[in-house]
Amino acid sequence: MSKSAAEFNKNDDGRPPAHVAIIMDGNGRWAQQKGLIRVRGHRRGVDSVRAVTTECARLGVGSLTLYAFSVENWKRPQAEIRILMNLLKKFLIDERPTIMKNNIRLTSIGRIEDMSADVRKELNATEALSAKNRGMVLRLALSYGGRAELADATKRIAREVKAGRLDPDAIDEETIRAFLYDPSLPDPDLLIRTAGEMRVSNFLLWQVSYSELYVTPVCWPDFRERELNEAFADYRRRVRKFGGLERVTVS
Ligand code: IPE
Ligand code: IPE
Ligand code: MG
Repeated sequence: MSKSAAEFNKNDDGRPPAHVAIIMDGNGRWAQQKGLIRVRGHRRGVDSVRAVTTECARLGVGSLTLYAFSVENWKRPQAEIRILMNLLKKFLIDERPTIMKNNIRLTSIGRIEDMSADVRKELNATEALSAKNRGMVLRLALSYGGRAELADATKRIAREVKAGRLDPDAIDEETIRAFLYDPSLPDPDLLIRTAGEMRVSNFLLWQVSYSELYVTPVCWPDFRERELNEAFADYRRRVRKFGGLERVTVS
């Protein structure tokens, strides 16, 4: 079947977005809607992480950044934090075969020093195990906040200036990028948020300046391969201009 005129996008190169970032929200609501306790939603959410990660790798996405735990999430009740940390630790151990089979390199961004020693141990082990993989980069945002990241970067830049290694007049956007948690992190092409809230909740504030936003009412535990492909299809209909004009014939 040929594409309808409305669907045809001359800017569509048919490729998936190179860098996908996801705000995985709605685990609690998913459980509540079913009369279950919140932890059941978090547990089911791990299955979505596996499904979406594997599908992204299969489709040739270069980089997937998942907002797993925000710096603000420490405000939650201790019991919920403990459950989330245990699930994270279990994920880091159990998913090693899937990560290796799909040639995925696992990395992390955020105030990793806030995580408990046992989580850091498993995180380091999975990062080390997958360090030589050359497929998709799976980046977990842990104890991550966009403002915290900019504050941490500013502190490090100030130290460089104080030590005489950096001229303040030479500071430009690339300098700031170089001091973010992961300077190799490309700007997300597509930012997905599940569970319907129209906000960025302190995620990748510097990096999303020109990302395409996609918000779905579907809660994270129900977001799987089909929903991901719908998001990608929507992305391919977008026209990205980065403040410029669409390529137009001027003469
Ligand atoms: C996302 O689901 C998981 C984390 C933030 C860690 P929530 O726990 O925020 O679920 P809702 O938003 O309460 O439904
Ligand atoms: C954003 O979800 C953080 C993560 C998905 C890890 P939240 O549930 O914490 O965001 P708010 O509180 O609704 O803005
Ligand atoms: Mg939430």
